[in-house]
Amino acid sequence: MNYNGIIVKYSKYLPIDPRCIVTLNEGNTPLLHAPRLSALIGKGVKVYLKLEGLNPTGSFKDRGMTYAISKAVEAKSQAVVCASTGNTSAAQAAYAARAGLRSYVLIPKGKIALGKLSQALVHGSRVLAIDGNFDEALEIVRKIGEQGLATVVNSINPYRLDGQKSAAFEIAEQLGDAPTYHALPVGNAGNITAYWRGYKQYHSEGMIEKLPKMLGFQASGSAPIVLGRPVKNPETIATAIRIGNPASWQYALQARDESKGLIDKVTDKEILKAYHLVASLDGYFCEPASAASIAGILKLAKNKFFKSGDVIVCTLTGHGLKDPDTAIKGVKPPIFVKPDLKKILKAMKL
Ligand code: F0G
Repeated sequence: MNYNGIIVKYSKYLPIDPRCIVTLNEGNTPLLHAPRLSALIGKGVKVYLKLEGLNPTGSFKDRGMTYAISKAVEAKSQAVVCASTGNTSAAQAAYAARAGLRSYVLIPKGKIALGKLSQALVHGSRVLAIDGNFDEALEIVRKIGEQGLATVVNSINPYRLDGQKSAAFEIAEQLGDAPTYHALPVGNAGNITAYWRGYKQYHSEGMIEKLPKMLGFQASGSAPIVLGRPVKNPETIATAIRIGNPASWQYALQARDESKGLIDKVTDKEILKAYHLVASLDGYFCEPASAASIAGILKLAKNKFFKSGDVIVCTLTGHGLKDPDTAIKGVKPPIFVKPDLKKILKAMKL
Protein backbone atom coordinates (compact mmCIF):
# COMPACT_ATOMS: atom_id res chain seq x y z
CA MET A 1 0.00 0.00 0.00
CA ASN A 2 1.20 3.49 -0.79
CA TYR A 3 2.17 5.55 2.22
CA ASN A 4 1.50 9.26 1.89
CA GLY A 5 2.60 10.78 5.18
CA ILE A 6 0.92 11.41 8.51
CA ILE A 7 -1.83 13.80 7.40
CA VAL A 8 -3.33 11.22 5.05
CA LYS A 9 -2.81 8.36 7.51
CA TYR A 10 -4.30 10.22 10.49
CA SER A 11 -6.72 12.42 8.55
CA LYS A 12 -9.36 11.97 11.25
CA TYR A 13 -7.15 13.86 13.71
CA LEU A 14 -5.53 16.28 11.25
CA PRO A 15 -8.35 17.91 9.31
CA ILE A 16 -7.42 19.97 6.25
CA ASP A 17 -8.43 20.69 2.66
CA PRO A 18 -6.61 17.78 0.90
CA ARG A 19 -5.46 20.13 -1.91
CA CYS A 20 -3.31 22.00 0.64
CA ILE A 21 -1.36 19.01 1.96
CA VAL A 22 2.41 19.50 1.82
CA THR A 23 4.17 16.25 2.62
CA LEU A 24 7.53 14.54 2.22
CA ASN A 25 6.04 11.21 3.38
CA GLU A 26 7.16 11.78 6.95
CA GLY A 27 6.28 9.42 9.80
CA ASN A 28 5.88 5.63 9.72
CA THR A 29 9.30 5.36 11.39
CA PRO A 30 10.64 2.06 12.76
CA LEU A 31 10.34 1.04 16.39
CA LEU A 32 13.54 -0.91 16.85
CA HIS A 33 14.12 -3.36 19.68
CA ALA A 34 17.51 -2.74 21.33
CA PRO A 35 18.49 -6.06 22.93
CA ARG A 36 21.90 -5.09 24.22
CA LEU A 37 20.74 -1.82 25.73
CA SER A 38 17.77 -3.67 27.24
CA ALA A 39 20.14 -6.09 28.97
CA LEU A 40 21.99 -3.15 30.51
CA ILE A 41 18.81 -1.57 31.80
CA GLY A 42 17.58 -4.65 33.60
CA LYS A 43 16.54 -8.27 33.49
CA GLY A 44 13.29 -8.79 31.64
CA VAL A 45 13.13 -5.14 30.54
CA LYS A 46 12.54 -4.39 26.87
CA VAL A 47 13.87 -1.16 25.40
CA TYR A 48 12.65 0.03 22.00
CA LEU A 49 14.03 2.93 20.01
CA LYS A 50 11.66 5.07 17.96
CA LEU A 51 13.90 6.09 15.09
CA GLU A 52 12.74 9.62 14.39
CA GLY A 53 16.04 10.41 12.70
CA LEU A 54 14.66 8.44 9.75
CA ASN A 55 12.13 11.13 8.91
CA PRO A 56 12.78 12.97 5.61
CA THR A 57 14.81 15.82 7.13
CA GLY A 58 16.35 13.61 9.80
CA SER A 59 14.31 14.54 12.86
CA PHE A 60 10.85 14.26 14.46
CA LYS A 61 10.13 17.86 13.50
CA ASP A 62 8.77 16.74 10.12
CA ARG A 63 5.61 15.40 11.77
CA GLY A 64 4.56 18.78 13.08
CA MET A 65 5.96 20.69 10.14
CA THR A 66 3.92 18.90 7.48
CA TYR A 67 0.74 19.95 9.26
CA ALA A 68 1.87 23.49 10.20
CA ILE A 69 3.02 24.23 6.64
CA SER A 70 -0.09 22.64 5.09
CA LYS A 71 -2.28 24.76 7.37
CA ALA A 72 -0.26 27.86 6.44
CA VAL A 73 -0.96 27.07 2.77
CA GLU A 74 -4.64 26.56 3.56
CA ALA A 75 -4.70 29.97 5.28
CA LYS A 76 -3.01 31.49 2.18
CA SER A 77 0.05 32.57 4.14
CA GLN A 78 3.01 33.62 1.96
CA ALA A 79 5.83 33.38 4.49
CA VAL A 80 6.84 31.29 7.49
CA VAL A 81 9.27 31.95 10.31
CA CYS A 82 10.75 30.10 13.28
CA ALA A 83 13.41 30.28 15.95
CA SER A 84 15.42 27.12 16.12
CA THR A 85 18.27 25.17 17.60
CA GLY A 86 18.52 23.61 14.14
CA ASN A 87 16.06 20.83 13.46
CA THR A 88 12.91 22.94 13.28
CA SER A 89 14.68 25.24 10.83
CA ALA A 90 15.77 22.27 8.69
CA ALA A 91 12.22 20.91 8.57
CA GLN A 92 10.66 24.32 7.94
CA ALA A 93 13.13 25.00 5.15
CA ALA A 94 12.33 21.73 3.37
CA TYR A 95 8.53 21.92 3.66
CA ALA A 96 8.44 25.64 2.82
CA ALA A 97 10.54 24.95 -0.28
CA ARG A 98 8.07 22.29 -1.38
CA ALA A 99 5.13 24.60 -0.69
CA GLY A 100 6.73 27.58 -2.43
CA LEU A 101 6.56 29.75 0.69
CA ARG A 102 9.14 32.31 1.72
CA SER A 103 11.06 30.94 4.70
CA TYR A 104 12.93 32.79 7.44
CA VAL A 105 14.77 31.16 10.31
CA LEU A 106 16.46 32.65 13.37
CA ILE A 107 19.23 30.59 14.93
CA PRO A 108 21.70 31.16 17.77
CA LYS A 109 25.00 32.04 16.12
CA GLY A 110 27.63 29.29 16.32
CA LYS A 111 25.35 26.99 18.30
CA ILE A 112 23.66 24.84 15.74
CA ALA A 113 25.03 21.61 14.34
CA LEU A 114 26.59 21.73 10.87
CA GLY A 115 24.17 19.32 9.19
CA LYS A 116 21.15 21.34 10.31
CA LEU A 117 22.65 24.62 9.13
CA SER A 118 23.42 23.06 5.74
CA GLN A 119 19.84 21.89 5.42
CA ALA A 120 18.29 25.30 6.08
CA LEU A 121 20.66 26.91 3.57
CA VAL A 122 20.37 24.27 0.85
CA HIS A 123 16.57 24.42 0.95
CA GLY A 124 16.79 28.15 0.34
CA SER A 125 15.63 29.68 3.60
CA ARG A 126 16.86 33.08 4.66
CA VAL A 127 18.96 32.17 7.68
CA LEU A 128 19.59 34.82 10.32
CA ALA A 129 22.18 33.96 12.96
CA ILE A 130 21.68 36.09 16.07
CA ASP A 131 24.09 36.92 18.81
CA GLY A 132 21.82 35.36 21.39
CA ASN A 133 20.23 32.07 22.39
CA PHE A 134 17.10 30.19 21.29
CA ASP A 135 14.88 31.83 23.93
CA GLU A 136 15.79 35.31 22.69
CA ALA A 137 15.22 34.26 19.09
CA LEU A 138 11.78 32.89 19.96
CA GLU A 139 10.78 36.17 21.65
CA ILE A 140 11.57 38.04 18.43
CA VAL A 141 9.77 35.47 16.30
CA ARG A 142 6.64 35.81 18.47
CA LYS A 143 6.66 39.54 17.71
CA ILE A 144 7.04 38.95 13.98
CA GLY A 145 4.02 36.66 14.21
CA GLU A 146 1.99 39.19 16.22
CA GLN A 147 2.66 41.81 13.55
CA GLY A 148 1.19 39.42 10.98
CA LEU A 149 4.34 39.44 8.85
CA ALA A 150 4.76 35.66 8.67
CA THR A 151 3.21 32.49 10.10
CA VAL A 152 5.16 31.23 13.10
CA VAL A 153 5.80 27.49 12.84
CA ASN A 154 7.45 26.94 16.20
CA SER A 155 5.49 24.64 18.49
CA ILE A 156 3.52 27.63 19.82
CA ASN A 157 1.65 26.99 16.56
CA PRO A 158 -0.88 24.34 17.72
CA TYR A 159 -0.73 22.45 14.42
CA ARG A 160 2.85 21.46 15.20
CA LEU A 161 1.85 19.53 18.31
CA ASP A 162 -1.19 18.04 16.57
CA GLY A 163 1.12 16.59 13.93
CA GLN A 164 3.66 15.35 16.46
CA LYS A 165 0.97 13.33 18.26
CA SER A 166 1.18 10.90 15.33
CA ALA A 167 4.37 9.40 16.79
CA ALA A 168 2.42 8.21 19.85
CA PHE A 169 -0.27 6.73 17.60
CA GLU A 170 2.37 4.82 15.65
CA ILE A 171 4.02 3.44 18.79
CA ALA A 172 0.64 2.30 20.11
CA GLU A 173 0.05 0.49 16.82
CA GLN A 174 3.57 -0.97 16.67
CA LEU A 175 3.44 -2.34 20.23
CA GLY A 176 -0.27 -3.13 20.32
CA ASP A 177 -0.58 -0.96 23.43
CA ALA A 178 1.26 1.90 25.14
CA PRO A 179 4.69 1.13 26.65
CA THR A 180 5.16 1.17 30.43
CA TYR A 181 7.49 4.15 30.10
CA HIS A 182 8.16 6.63 27.36
CA ALA A 183 11.52 8.44 27.60
CA LEU A 184 12.49 11.48 25.58
CA PRO A 185 14.70 14.58 25.62
CA VAL A 186 13.05 17.86 26.63
CA GLY A 187 14.01 21.20 25.10
CA ASN A 188 11.17 23.56 24.29
CA ALA A 189 8.91 20.82 25.76
CA GLY A 190 6.64 20.49 22.73
CA ASN A 191 7.36 16.85 22.01
CA ILE A 192 6.65 15.51 25.50
CA THR A 193 3.39 17.48 25.39
CA ALA A 194 2.46 16.07 21.99
CA TYR A 195 3.22 12.45 22.91
CA TRP A 196 1.18 12.68 26.08
CA ARG A 197 -1.76 14.19 24.23
CA GLY A 198 -1.47 11.47 21.57
CA TYR A 199 -1.47 8.65 24.11
CA LYS A 200 -4.38 10.20 26.02
CA GLN A 201 -6.37 10.55 22.83
CA TYR A 202 -5.84 6.91 21.82
CA HIS A 203 -6.66 5.83 25.38
CA SER A 204 -9.90 7.79 25.49
CA GLU A 205 -10.92 6.19 22.19
CA GLY A 206 -10.15 2.69 23.44
CA MET A 207 -7.26 2.19 21.02
CA ILE A 208 -4.89 1.36 23.91
CA GLU A 209 -5.57 -0.14 27.33
CA LYS A 210 -2.97 1.61 29.40
CA LEU A 211 -1.17 4.94 29.50
CA PRO A 212 2.62 5.23 29.73
CA LYS A 213 4.54 7.11 32.38
CA MET A 214 6.38 9.96 30.67
CA LEU A 215 10.10 10.33 31.44
CA GLY A 216 11.57 13.62 30.24
CA PHE A 217 15.26 14.46 30.36
CA GLN A 218 16.93 17.86 30.15
CA ALA A 219 20.65 18.55 29.89
CA SER A 220 21.92 19.61 33.30
CA GLY A 221 23.22 22.96 31.98
CA SER A 222 19.81 23.66 30.44
CA ALA A 223 17.36 22.24 32.93
CA PRO A 224 14.80 24.95 33.75
CA ILE A 225 11.95 22.52 34.37
CA VAL A 226 14.01 20.44 36.79
CA LEU A 227 15.26 23.55 38.59
CA GLY A 228 11.84 25.19 38.58
CA ARG A 229 13.12 28.47 37.12
CA PRO A 230 14.27 29.77 33.73
CA VAL A 231 17.98 29.42 32.93
CA LYS A 232 19.38 32.65 31.51
CA ASN A 233 22.45 31.22 29.81
CA PRO A 234 21.72 27.59 28.99
CA GLU A 235 24.69 25.45 27.96
CA THR A 236 25.06 21.88 26.77
CA ILE A 237 26.84 19.83 24.12
CA ALA A 238 23.35 18.74 23.06
CA THR A 239 22.70 22.02 21.24
CA ALA A 240 19.22 20.90 20.11
CA ILE A 241 17.99 21.18 23.71
CA ARG A 242 20.01 24.24 24.70
CA ILE A 243 16.89 26.06 25.91
CA GLY A 244 16.40 28.01 29.14
CA ASN A 245 12.74 28.95 29.05
CA PRO A 246 10.61 26.32 27.28
CA ALA A 247 7.43 27.50 25.57
CA SER A 248 5.45 24.38 26.61
CA TRP A 249 6.76 24.33 30.18
CA GLN A 250 3.33 24.07 31.82
CA TYR A 251 2.17 21.34 29.45
CA ALA A 252 5.32 19.34 30.18
CA LEU A 253 4.53 19.52 33.91
CA GLN A 254 1.01 18.35 33.11
CA ALA A 255 2.36 15.40 31.10
CA ARG A 256 4.71 14.51 33.95
CA ASP A 257 2.09 14.77 36.67
CA GLU A 258 -0.89 13.23 34.91
CA SER A 259 1.21 10.27 33.76
CA LYS A 260 2.93 9.92 37.18
CA GLY A 261 6.25 10.18 35.40
CA LEU A 262 9.23 12.44 36.00
CA ILE A 263 11.45 15.08 34.44
CA ASP A 264 15.10 14.78 35.41
CA LYS A 265 18.43 16.05 34.17
CA VAL A 266 21.50 14.31 32.75
CA THR A 267 25.01 15.72 32.44
CA ASP A 268 26.79 16.24 29.13
CA LYS A 269 29.13 13.44 30.16
CA GLU A 270 26.21 11.07 30.63
CA ILE A 271 24.69 12.20 27.31
CA LEU A 272 27.91 11.53 25.39
CA LYS A 273 28.36 8.16 27.05
CA ALA A 274 24.83 7.14 26.07
CA TYR A 275 25.37 8.52 22.55
CA HIS A 276 28.37 6.24 22.04
CA LEU A 277 26.72 3.33 23.80
CA VAL A 278 23.66 3.17 21.58
CA ALA A 279 25.85 3.48 18.48
CA SER A 280 28.29 0.78 19.54
CA LEU A 281 25.88 -1.64 21.26
CA ASP A 282 22.79 -1.51 19.13
CA GLY A 283 24.06 -0.01 15.89
CA TYR A 284 22.08 3.17 15.83
CA PHE A 285 23.59 6.64 15.39
CA CYS A 286 21.52 9.43 16.92
CA GLU A 287 22.36 13.04 17.66
CA PRO A 288 23.54 14.04 21.15
CA ALA A 289 20.21 15.52 22.31
CA SER A 290 18.44 12.29 21.40
CA ALA A 291 20.83 10.33 23.59
CA ALA A 292 19.52 12.24 26.62
CA SER A 293 16.65 9.75 26.69
CA ILE A 294 19.11 6.84 26.83
CA ALA A 295 21.26 8.62 29.42
CA GLY A 296 18.13 9.19 31.47
CA ILE A 297 17.02 5.57 31.59
CA LEU A 298 20.57 4.44 32.34
CA LYS A 299 20.62 6.85 35.27
CA LEU A 300 17.29 5.54 36.56
CA ALA A 301 18.38 1.93 36.05
CA LYS A 302 21.31 2.49 38.42
CA ASN A 303 18.74 2.99 41.18
CA LYS A 304 16.75 -0.12 40.18
CA PHE A 305 13.91 2.00 38.89
CA PHE A 306 12.70 -0.53 36.28
CA LYS A 307 11.37 -4.02 36.84
CA SER A 308 11.04 -7.17 34.80
CA GLY A 309 8.29 -6.91 32.21
CA ASP A 310 8.64 -3.15 31.76
CA VAL A 311 8.55 -1.90 28.20
CA ILE A 312 10.45 1.35 27.61
CA VAL A 313 10.29 3.38 24.42
CA CYS A 314 13.06 5.94 23.91
CA THR A 315 12.48 8.47 21.18
CA LEU A 316 15.69 9.05 19.26
CA THR A 317 14.63 12.46 18.04
CA GLY A 318 17.31 13.19 15.43
CA HIS A 319 19.89 11.44 13.25
CA GLY A 320 23.56 11.32 14.23
CA LEU A 321 24.65 12.70 10.85
CA LYS A 322 23.11 16.03 11.83
CA ASP A 323 26.10 16.77 14.03
CA PRO A 324 29.30 15.42 12.48
CA ASP A 325 31.52 17.69 14.60
CA THR A 326 30.44 16.12 17.88
CA ALA A 327 30.74 12.67 16.33
CA ILE A 328 34.30 13.17 15.16
CA LYS A 329 35.44 14.85 18.37
CA GLY A 330 34.47 11.93 20.55
CA VAL A 331 36.24 9.09 18.75
CA LYS A 332 39.72 7.92 17.82
CA PRO A 333 40.80 9.37 14.44
CA PRO A 334 41.33 7.05 11.44
CA ILE A 335 44.71 5.32 11.17
CA PHE A 336 46.72 6.64 8.24
CA VAL A 337 48.47 3.89 6.37
CA LYS A 338 50.12 3.38 2.96
CA PRO A 339 48.19 1.29 0.37
CA ASP A 340 50.28 -1.77 1.12
CA LEU A 341 48.73 -5.09 2.21
CA LYS A 342 51.40 -5.93 4.76
CA LYS A 343 51.20 -2.53 6.43
CA ILE A 344 47.43 -2.61 6.38
CA LEU A 345 47.27 -6.05 8.01
CA LYS A 346 49.70 -4.84 10.67
CA ALA A 347 47.56 -1.78 11.34
CA MET A 348 44.51 -4.05 11.51
CA LYS A 349 46.32 -6.26 14.01
CA LEU A 350 45.20 -9.25 11.96
N1 F0G B 1 15.72 16.40 20.23
C1 F0G B 1 16.06 17.09 19.13
C2 F0G B 1 16.96 16.43 18.15
C3 F0G B 1 15.56 18.39 18.92
O1 F0G B 1 15.90 19.05 17.83
C4 F0G B 1 14.72 18.97 19.89
C5 F0G B 1 14.21 20.33 19.73
C6 F0G B 1 14.39 18.20 21.02
C7 F0G B 1 14.90 16.93 21.14
C8 F0G B 1 13.50 18.71 22.08
O2 F0G B 1 12.16 18.73 21.67
O3 F0G B 1 11.72 21.13 21.98
O4 F0G B 1 9.87 19.51 21.65
O5 F0G B 1 11.18 19.53 23.77
N2 F0G B 1 14.58 21.12 18.83
C9 F0G B 1 13.98 22.44 18.56
C10 F0G B 1 14.54 23.02 17.28
C11 F0G B 1 13.98 23.34 19.71
O6 F0G B 1 14.57 24.23 17.12
O7 F0G B 1 14.93 22.24 16.41
P1 F0G B 1 11.16 19.79 22.31
